[in-house]
Amino acid sequence: GRPLDLAGHRVVVSAGGTREAIDPVRYIGNRSSGLQGYALARTAVARGAEVTLVAANVTLPDPAGAAVVRVGSAAELREAVLAAADDADVVVMAAAVADFRPAERHDAKIKKTDGEPAPIHLAKNPDILAELGSRRKERGGDSPRVLVGFAAETHDVLANGQAKLARKGCDLLVVNEVGESLAFGTPDNAATILVAGGEPVEVPRGPKDDIADAVWDAVAPRLR
Ligand code: C5P
Repeated sequence: GRPLDLAGHRVVVSAGGTREAIDPVRYIGNRSSGLQGYALARTAVARGAEVTLVAANVTLPDPAGAAVVRVGSAAELREAVLAAADDADVVVMAAAVADFRPAERHDAKIKKTDGEPAPIHLAKNPDILAELGSRRKERGGDSPRVLVGFAAETHDVLANGQAKLARKGCDLLVVNEVGESLAFGTPDNAATILVAGGEPVEVPRGPKDDIADAVWDAVAPRLR
């Protein structure tokens, strides 16, 4: 059995991957399945938390006991997360948020033409995790009490991760090494949890529930 160490705490988890509309039928998306975010939501419920799961384009069934808010784009995910974060103790950003969106959304389906296709120009999306980090700082430091980010890195995993942890102003950063058939869409994962002002925690390759429990193991002491 799991400890009930999140009892009485409100937790927000984002999961899945955003889709950025090009026109009514097309989008720019990513390969995130939502499995890791759903594992975080499920295990948080099991450990006693009150869980809001903000799910971007996930096809998995709703985890029992969590309030699920379904979103599509990064803008929608941002609205839902910021709203839920207001009275949350913990926010975990496990979603793959698109860094860019098409600058212009066409109202009608783009047609095939005989000439050269028109380029798709991109605009930058706001960084929601960084926004939560700086908003917390402005408000004096304890809302949410624990802020957790995820990062997929292909090289210099620890150095890039430490820089990202500081840049985004979060307490924990779960770093995945990508590029070895781990992570996206697979039931297994391996990770290093970087801890602001503490030693990193290595989580060996295993089910995404194990990564999730290791995250909550690192979160719980920070709520006391
Ligand atoms: O900078 P990078 O995309 O590697 O950071 C990943 C972390 O930041 C994840 O926790 C992700 O959910 C979050 N993120 C975000 N908003 C963005 C991009 C990433 O909250 N626009």
